[in-house]
Amino acid sequence: MYTSILPHKKSEVAPITLDKTGLKEEIARLKKEKNACILAHYYQEADIQDVADYLGDSLYLAKVAEQVTSDVIVFAGVHFMAETAKIINPSKRIWLPDLNAGCSLADSCPPEALSALKAQHPEALVVTYINCTAEIKALSDLVCTSSNAVAVINSIDPEREIIFAPDRNLGRYLIQQTGRPMILWEGACVVHEAFAFEKIVKLFQEHPDAQFIAHPESESAVLDLAKYIGSTSGLLDYVQNDSAQKYIVGTEVGIIHEMKKRAPHKTFIPAPVQDDTCACSECAYMKVNTLEKLYRCLRDEAPEIFLSEDLIARARKPIQRMLEIA
Ligand code: 13P
Ligand code: SF4
Repeated sequence: MYTSILPHKKSEVAPITLDKTGLKEEIARLKKEKNACILAHYYQEADIQDVADYLGDSLYLAKVAEQVTSDVIVFAGVHFMAETAKIINPSKRIWLPDLNAGCSLADSCPPEALSALKAQHPEALVVTYINCTAEIKALSDLVCTSSNAVAVINSIDPEREIIFAPDRNLGRYLIQQTGRPMILWEGACVVHEAFAFEKIVKLFQEHPDAQFIAHPESESAVLDLAKYIGSTSGLLDYVQNDSAQKYIVGTEVGIIHEMKKRAPHKTFIPAPVQDDTCACSECAYMKVNTLEKLYRCLRDEAPEIFLSEDLIARARKPIQRMLEIA
């Protein structure tokens, strides 16, 4: 099982003398030389988003990974995303700037524990959020992302019992949206669970013209305050097309970089977190990737994602079913 270590940003290897412009130039040169493309998630730091060939949410990036023609995918995201790219397109080499780019949701769900839960409910269909390891996907009947989760659950025979893992908050939201009871795994995202209900209410009072929008990994009480709930791509489309001018953003702050590009005249306020002393609305796992590590990764052709053929074959089935549904 892959377990992430809560990351630190400092690199222990020899320092790079290139400045930001130099790094970007070298990244572009190496990408061409090695026939690589860069896929990045909206939670990556702004400079990484800016050098990406494809920027998107988990579903979009999985679909891109399936279709790219380059020999190499450099995945500027977290480990489960890079693994998903390898599962979907095993002939490609997949490089991840830092293997410590994990996810608290993926860490919350070890395969032995999910197998034990499955054994208690032998008739249940196992649906897992894409934020999980390849081993967990291999134990699943269906995978979903926050973009297609409602459609995936609605596609299941209404008589069938469902186990949903690993995100209890997304699970509760899906129960509410679909009316389907589900057995929920007790995992949570450290970033989305950090949002502070009372502080959001207070912020609303200070900005009565603002709308609160949130990712469904947030707790139910926080979601109850939201005018719109959606995946990262859903949130971006919403702020671009909606008529309000100010938003309190209930997801990882990295997304605000793209929000400002899509709606430059609007104001985006990061949703407040419980602990004022931490940068908790930043995903420490996503932010372990840096422009420098992206450069090193292209230069050194490492770290690389390796998965056994057997695991790839088993983990691919539920992902393929998802892609056929949604
Ligand atoms: P999206 O699929 O909505 O981009 O979410 C990914 C994620 O990790 C949210 O925390
Ligand atoms: Fe995982 Fe949360 Fe980070 Fe998304 S924001 S990668 S769910 S820890």
